[in-house]
Amino acid sequence: MTEPTQTNPGLFLTFEGVDGAGKSTHVQWAKQYLCDRGVTVCLTREPGGTALGEQLRDLLLTEPMHLETETLLMFAARNEHLRTVIEPALAAGQWVVCDRFTDATFAYQGAGRALGRDRINQLAQWVHPGFEPNRTWLFDVPLEVARQRLSAAREPDRFEREQADFFKRTREGYMQCVKASPERFLTVDGTQSIERIREVLAADLDALLRRASKGRG
Ligand SMILES: Nc1ncnc2c1ncn2[C@@H]1O[C@H](COP(=O)(O)OP(=O)(O)OP(=O)(O)O)[C@@H](O)[C@H]1O
Ligand SMILES: [Mg+2]
Repeated sequence: MTEPTQTNPGLFLTFEGVDGAGKSTHVQWAKQYLCDRGVTVCLTREPGGTALGEQLRDLLLTEPMHLETETLLMFAARNEHLRTVIEPALAAGQWVVCDRFTDATFAYQGAGRALGRDRINQLAQWVHPGFEPNRTWLFDVPLEVARQRLSAAREPDRFEREQADFFKRTREGYMQCVKASPERFLTVDGTQSIERIREVLAADLDALLRRASKGRG
């Protein structure tokens, strides 16, 4: 995990993984776990997290658009989110728990849609130079598990087979993110029970809390 910087006394924690991996199942729980231990938590998500960002999210999820437009809109929403929500919360000493961040752009637009990492690196350098989450939990599940969770299991049709390739590239894109910053990530086997995953998360949150209190002491 990455040490907090002096200018950002709060910690920035992100949840990542393909659709249906189990991120949203745990974000509210993680917030409560930290609140119960005296931390003020800002729970948020991407794309979104601001009024403008939620409008951009609606566009991103519904309107067909070029890949470059999609990527730029992701970073437009992210810039607004950073400036108006994430940075002020961290500066005030809050911990920010965020459902997806820039790793998702590397995985989905960079790998899933094959834009590549270079352009996304350029945008990340522009929008948040030197800034990254202190900890990222990557929920990893195979396609079959994600699909079963998102819809009733059935033989994939042609469209769903295309989606399977997209899923595979996206999952691999996340693995490239782990390779690029191994100390920041904890990869969670998302096929485990919710209870078991919460034990893993609780142990890691306890470690973060210990490090944060040592840093203050
Ligand atoms: N460990 C688990 N075991 C069994 N079911 C799970 C587990 N984790 C999540 N689920 C179920 O799988 C479904 C998808 O989970 P969730 O909404 O948390 O995924 P997500 O990663 O947030 O997906 P998306 O990216 O689409 O928002 C939900 O119905 C949830 O209850
Ligand atoms: Mg979700």
